[in-house]
Amino acid sequence: MPELVPLLNKETIEKKVAAAADRISSDYNGREVIMIGVLKGSVIFISDLIRHLTIPVKIDFIGVSSYGSDDSPSEKIRLTKEVQIDIENKDVIIVEDIVDTGLTLSWLIDRLSSLGLRSLKVCTFLDKRERRKADVMIDYSCHVVDKGFIVGYGLDYAENYRNLPDVYCMKF
Ligand code: IMP
Ligand code: MG
Repeated sequence: MPELVPLLNKETIEKKVAAAADRISSDYNGREVIMIGVLKGSVIFISDLIRHLTIPVKIDFIGVSSYGSDDSPSEKIRLTKEVQIDIENKDVIIVEDIVDTGLTLSWLIDRLSSLGLRSLKVCTFLDKRERRKADVMIDYSCHVVDKGFIVGYGLDYAENYRNLPDVYCMKF
């Protein structure tokens, strides 16, 4: 069994998520925002994030899957669920659980940018920098980690641990 080393407890997570929501509410200054959560990892984060916003918000989800094993997402990305609400001319924020290589995000940005949005920004719970390959701009992040495989608060290892309220680094 891999060991789970505590990284962020739920009180810390709550503060960091609230702080990101405050920055977003202040930047959008009363304007409506459409948040698009990337399935499935962002589900817990987006649920908490939107409850701290003080601006109007609509949410939807987009599904992507990358071929390869769970701890080493490969570079081939495929859409598994389309956005359903109308996002043309809207201020859109992509909500991610973690940006690692940045390849998923860069693929999503390319795809969504072609849909005639008013603006597009990115909000991620974790910004993991060591393996970054794509030069992606992250507008809002709750916490930066250098490396490691992180689980809990929506993040999984082979679909396990998404339900943990705290965040851990896995020691294999
Ligand atoms: P990318 O390498 O930036 O394209 O990351 C794609 C996806 O891989 C993320 O959205 C996560 O779902 C998953 N991922 C990357 N690093 C981790 C991790 O440390 N823990 C759990 N999932 C991860
Ligand atoms: Mg993800």
